[in-house]
Amino acid sequence: MTLAQHGAYGETGVWRPAYSPEWVAAQEMVEGWCRGIGMDVRQDAVGSVWGKFAGSEGGKSIVSGSHIDSQCPGGRYDGALGVIAAYVAMRTLVEQHGLPRRTLEIVSLCEEESSRYPASNYWGSRAITGRIAPEDPEHVVSLDGATIADGMREVGLDPTRVLEAKRDDLDYFIELHIEQGPLLEQAGLPVGIVTGITGPREYWVTVTGRSDHAGARPMDTRRDPMAGAAEIISGVINTAHRMGRPAVTTVGRIAADPNLSPAVPEQVAFTVDARHPDPEQRAVLFARHETLMREIATRRDLDLTWEITWDHDPQRCDPELVALLEKSAKNQGIPHMLIPSGAGHDAQQMAQVARTAMIFVRSKDGRSHTPAEFTSVEDAVAGIEVLTAALHRLAY
Ligand code: GLV
Ligand code: MN
Ligand code: MN
Repeated sequence: MTLAQHGAYGETGVWRPAYSPEWVAAQEMVEGWCRGIGMDVRQDAVGSVWGKFAGSEGGKSIVSGSHIDSQCPGGRYDGALGVIAAYVAMRTLVEQHGLPRRTLEIVSLCEEESSRYPASNYWGSRAITGRIAPEDPEHVVSLDGATIADGMREVGLDPTRVLEAKRDDLDYFIELHIEQGPLLEQAGLPVGIVTGITGPREYWVTVTGRSDHAGARPMDTRRDPMAGAAEIISGVINTAHRMGRPAVTTVGRIAADPNLSPAVPEQVAFTVDARHPDPEQRAVLFARHETLMREIATRRDLDLTWEITWDHDPQRCDPELVALLEKSAKNQGIPHMLIPSGAGHDAQQMAQVARTAMIFVRSKDGRSHTPAEFTSVEDAVAGIEVLTAALHRLAY
């Protein structure tokens, strides 16, 4: 609740995009918490905050954390709970057992949601893997056209230095996160140990026809991009629906231009977010979407273009780390189950440079990416107990 004051939206929401003043205030708050328990604190080249307890044996780091940015609007828990969980776990370990043998680090990642910069693609964690090219900051743009380089400069970061955020000294990454779906609640369990993360792809689709008068232009002579978009939107959503779980396709953003009641629009643009955890089924889903979009546009004599803004392979969690998390839950009598992740996560990137796994905690009514998001303190604590025990096993 304290962190959620930064970017508070309505009664229960948060609006905290990357590099906004609210984001700066939240990152400063996390820095203060980490300093307060004696961690060495720094901000990396893209603005992610790191706190560190150096281990007596040195060596590669054991890391936990998540992201601090939000959807616009989003809830209080998505990302933020994982940062708080890592902080509480590490504070508790050092209070109870002193400084660790292995180095423990918390990370509050700068940008996961792509809510301000649609093609930023896990900016914070991707920078850690060294997969941001030097020219990227000037090419990744926000919804209003400003570059992420501008956003970085506004908060005092030098976009020419993104490569300096790269780490090759990480051993483990464990991310605690809210589930964001209904599976734990349906099973009546507080905690999930994540087996793998789905492979999301996002298309920004533009359908262009011709703007005409809504009364005077006969239907049979129109090139109506809204008619094409409506057919495409219904078609892609029904494709995933017919394929059945765990295929999912969502159209969440749409814009008509012009956006007038008495005119056929010239252009309709919308997103298609499609996900599947199985690489082959994922390819089938995307191919069906693309065939359908082309067929509809051709039949209706509409111009069709798309850009792929997000495309991440499914990622399996590290089996040994999954087993350790299961054991940590079992030893403490915390009811849990294995669960897949339908949401994308920084852990997908971190898996390139560290052995990676995730802990989910129950989301009330399975809600997320909405201010209605809620996780009880009891469920959050159950997840943090699993995290703490696993970090204890690895670092002491
Ligand atoms: C990440 O927030 C996602 O949309 O999965
Ligand atoms: Mn998240
Ligand atoms: Mn999210």
